[in-house]
Amino acid sequence: MKLVVNGQPHEVDAPADMPLLWVLRDLVGLTGTKFGCGMAQCGACTVHLDGAPIRSCVTPAVAAEGKSITTIEGLSKDGTHPVQLAWREADVVQCGYCQSGQIMAAAALLKSNPKPSDADIDTALSGNLCRCGTYQRIRLAVHRAAELTKEAGHVA
Ligand code: FES
Ligand code: FES
Repeated sequence: MKLVVNGQPHEVDAPADMPLLWVLRDLVGLTGTKFGCGMAQCGACTVHLDGAPIRSCVTPAVAAEGKSITTIEGLSKDGTHPVQLAWREADVVQCGYCQSGQIMAAAALLKSNPKPSDADIDTALSGNLCRCGTYQRIRLAVHRAAELTKEAGHVA
């Protein structure tokens, strides 16, 4: 199976029904995307497929063939995507387990909605659970990322 992950082509030997999450973590070696529930319930495994956020734990890898897959490792080359900058500034992270999924969901939101309201953020990230309860800081950081994106003229 041929996949394009973070702009790089990968040929992987995987059964067609293997979840994309397993392929990314175990075969491609990108472990920034996390396994939480395995049932599309928590958002820890969120990656982008052609720019849209998906649950990679329930997406067969074969469904990603011919599409562009972006993981947390590919969001920016050096951790300077506005969402990553804002996350650090707001010191969002506690244990960190959910956070790559949160960041990928936030980046996708800002691409479709550059100035989201609190309600927009809550709706867009409602499927991304955080057991540490960082929701208030996530909200602040998404607003800050929107400002940084605008200031930099960055296309998130
Ligand atoms: S691990 Fe995919 S949604 Fe929880
Ligand atoms: S930071 Fe710990 S689960 Fe979200």
